[in-house]
Amino acid sequence: MKILNDFLQRYNDYLQTFEDYLDKYTAKLQTKPEVLGESMKYSLQNGGKRIRPVLALACADVLAVPQEEILPFTLALEMIHAYSLVHDDLPAMDDDDFRRGKPSNHKAFGEANAILAGDGLLNEAYAVCFQECLKGEKYALAAKTLNECAGVYGMIAGQSADLYYSKQNAAVSEDDLKYIHAHKTGKLLIAPVLIASILGNNRQYIEMERFGKLLGVLFQMTDDILDVTGDFDKLGKTVGKDEKENKLTYVRLYGLEGAKVRADICARDCHTVLESIDADTEFLHGLVDYVLNRRH
Ligand code: IPE
Ligand code: IPE
Ligand code: MG
Ligand code: MG
Ligand code: MG
Repeated sequence: MKILNDFLQRYNDYLQTFEDYLDKYTAKLQTKPEVLGESMKYSLQNGGKRIRPVLALACADVLAVPQEEILPFTLALEMIHAYSLVHDDLPAMDDDDFRRGKPSNHKAFGEANAILAGDGLLNEAYAVCFQECLKGEKYALAAKTLNECAGVYGMIAGQSADLYYSKQNAAVSEDDLKYIHAHKTGKLLIAPVLIASILGNNRQYIEMERFGKLLGVLFQMTDDILDVTGDFDKLGKTVGKDEKENKLTYVRLYGLEGAKVRADICARDCHTVLESIDADTEFLHGLVDYVLNRRH
């Protein structure tokens, strides 16, 4: 129990550090017309687990990177994540009316404004990155890595594959499923791990990369499972959507029990990789269990 409480306390501390940094950014965000900034803030400030920033801050601690060096990248990353959700929920994509227990962006602001809010968030993310690039090569490399993870060989490729396979009734394979998960979700979870390692002068890069990859896949496995077993009040988003939209998920390929078994194995692999890292990874071990057992 004490271990769990310590973990939750630390999670909360990281989350608060991020929220404070985010608040400073949003306080300055003023657009003409106002609706643009308001719709961006709606999806940026509207809660969420903040797992990507928390993971970045935790990895920074593991690798002795000062918080002020990683914080701009946590902001850029969360802006990219927020934009990906705004677009993911659009009628042309997953057509979801709720996100984090509130109407999704297009339900609150209309489709056209939601598209522009996503565009705005993405551009602001890179504005933050360009500012960091000016500090020197290491920071430029971190920004380049974020771009690779988020772009057409990263998250966007995964989103495209997710749509492609949901329309396909042809045979689908485990490789197709792995490609979707590793890209649409995995890439934005590996990004914070790699950025921390780069800012820490590539310390433990190979092991951290291995860990980030596994954690990202685990995260989407549990997202797929929760789409079947979760409830709206906790998740804040409509359940049962994957089956309705014919999405290629672990549950579709292996059934609910098969998906759970694979998630357990993936979590075990995460722990094994963490054991190979020469630093204090206790919080990251806790994060693996948090992702495996999460209810939202
Ligand atoms: C939801 O991400 C989309 C996926 C990649 C599965 P999160 O579950 O991290 O969403 P929030 O930010 O906590 O709402
Ligand atoms: C979304 O995956 C991944 C990204 C937005 C990049 P899902 O479509 O499964 O996420 P939810 O279930 O809507 O949160
Ligand atoms: Mg989707
Ligand atoms: Mg979706
Ligand atoms: Mg989902």
